[in-house]
Amino acid sequence: MGRLRFLLGVFPFLALLLCFFLSYTHLSPTTILVKNEMIASPREFSILIGILTRADLYNHRHFLRILYGIQSSSIAHVDVKFVFCNLTKEEQRVLVSLEMLRYDDIIVLNCTENMNHGKTYTYFSSVPKVLSRRYDYVMKADDDVYIRLEQLSASIGRLELKRDFYYGFVIPCKSREPFVEYMSGMAYLLSWDLVEWISESEIPATDTVGPEDKLVGKWLRTGGKGRNRFTEKPAMYDYPGTNGGCSHELLKETVAVHRLKRQEQWLDVIRFFNVTQGIESSFLH
Ligand SMILES: *[C@@H]1O[C@H](CO)[C@@H](O)[C@H](O)[C@H]1NC(C)=O
Ligand SMILES: *[C@@H]1O[C@H](CO)[C@@H](O)[C@H](O)[C@H]1NC(C)=O
Ligand SMILES: *[C@@H]1O[C@H](CO)[C@@H](O)[C@H](O)[C@H]1NC(C)=O
Repeated sequence: MGRLRFLLGVFPFLALLLCFFLSYTHLSPTTILVKNEMIASPREFSILIGILTRADLYNHRHFLRILYGIQSSSIAHVDVKFVFCNLTKEEQRVLVSLEMLRYDDIIVLNCTENMNHGKTYTYFSSVPKVLSRRYDYVMKADDDVYIRLEQLSASIGRLELKRDFYYGFVIPCKSREPFVEYMSGMAYLLSWDLVEWISESEIPATDTVGPEDKLVGKWLRTGGKGRNRFTEKPAMYDYPGTNGGCSHELLKETVAVHRLKRQEQWLDVIRFFNVTQGIESSFLH
């Protein structure tokens, strides 16, 4: 009886001690994490990068998903999504659905797969309708370009332009004048108001056939749009030796390098930017 009373008496104390212990070991780290997140400066703007590719390129998409999945930006919220036209094979319906369930990073457009017959128009004009949120900027990128998200965000962030903005690598290759023609299809970015304009205006809707990058330049010129422009040179370029005047050596300050067609080119780029450096050296024991 005495022992029971002792246990009953001591139990609240033990419980209290346990709670204290648990809160110390489990809850405090969480609290610290939350606090850190609150202290960290809020992301200043958001970018959607749509990589135009084809449904069947499973392996390449897997590779790109890793390359972008291990990157992040401290100043922008960046989402990378894969964009293709409607599915044409039974197996695609299953396999792409599985990817969507797991990664939620695929946009299937209502078009038939094509290069220069309106896929880009369908992309930009669908984005405001199919997404559940808006972004400050929307990029169209090829699947043979490597974009460095922190460098891209820093480049955009420095410009502090949120409207009527058209950004990329201006064509012709040697030009540094962003108003001269148009931004190369490797990767170019439009502010959200321009994406909305593309989805609503008759100008792009009636002019969708032709080289997609050149067409975007033409729409904007015809519509008197894109009054804020920036050409990111030399930090955007084609991989050395792949395209004459658009190519140059890899640079430390790279935003995007394009025309990565072969595996050894991708490996060279990954090595150059020290993406796997820490891990690689740990294998050497
Ligand atoms: C897809 O496009 C076709 C023709 O371009 C159109 O008839 C159809 O209504 C569209 N489907 C949806 C779901 O928008
Ligand atoms: C794919 O999109 C095109 C519009 O370009 C439409 O005509 C066609 O019916 C669509 N196919 C499927 C299977 O949805
Ligand atoms: C990669 O790491 C090496 C050695 O630490 C360094 O010299 C080089 O500048 C780094 N490259 C880039 C692109 O940061």
